[in-house]
Amino acid sequence: MRKKIVAGNWKMNMTYDEGQKLTSEIVNMYKDEAIQDVAVVLNPPFPHIHPVKKLVGDTAGIYVGAQNCSDKEAGAFTGEVSAKILASFGVNYVILGHSERREYFKESNELLAAKVKQAIANGLTPIFCCGESLEIRTAGTHESNVKFQLTASLFDLSPEDFSKVVIAYEPIWAIGTGKTATADQAQEMHAALRRHIASKYGKEIANETSILYGGSANPGNAKELFSKPDVDGGLIGGASLKSRDFIDIVKSF
Ligand code: 13P
Repeated sequence: MRKKIVAGNWKMNMTYDEGQKLTSEIVNMYKDEAIQDVAVVLNPPFPHIHPVKKLVGDTAGIYVGAQNCSDKEAGAFTGEVSAKILASFGVNYVILGHSERREYFKESNELLAAKVKQAIANGLTPIFCCGESLEIRTAGTHESNVKFQLTASLFDLSPEDFSKVVIAYEPIWAIGTGKTATADQAQEMHAALRRHIASKYGKEIANETSILYGGSANPGNAKELFSKPDVDGGLIGGASLKSRDFIDIVKSF
């Protein structure tokens, strides 16, 4: 059975105090409301990682992730953070290929392939994002666009390494816009991605790959999205900054 995952992407939000409060509330609700069988991943900005990790402690089912890592192993790369450093702080996941990084920081498919390799080599689970712009969706080439993103950055991996990757489908037109993909649109794309994975790595690995949906997911639409057979959870932006909303999404399976 593939893993159900709800990951919160805090993006560039939350001061120290705000991050501590949000984390404590999420940890308490997760425990008090006896949530099981859903892995929660908190992905705060880098400085939060250590204190958030301390607050999460040994809570089973809650993990800490980063929003990025370097494509390089170590050395004179001022301002960068390596996968090895993240792993040494107990980080388990790393978001890679988010559309904001592709667009604002010009991250290419090749660079992302190198980042994915660094993450896996250091024991981190990449949450690899793909998704199309409104322009591409309108042109009707959305399916080939996301397939190409996977092929270009992931399909050099061995089957063993590919099995360590989580995919997040995030249509750019739905991110932060309040305009979610419909559950049917999400299902259609997730199924296409799973077929694409199966064509390269076989059905067994494809069936075990968790594919998350991201883009204006909220407590009001998560249930319908998560009811779809190929939607294994969510990568949540805005709604992950409010503990009640985030936990309600976690409970939407
Ligand atoms: P929103 O949930 O704010 O639309 O953001 C989605 C996202 O980009 C998560 O990575």
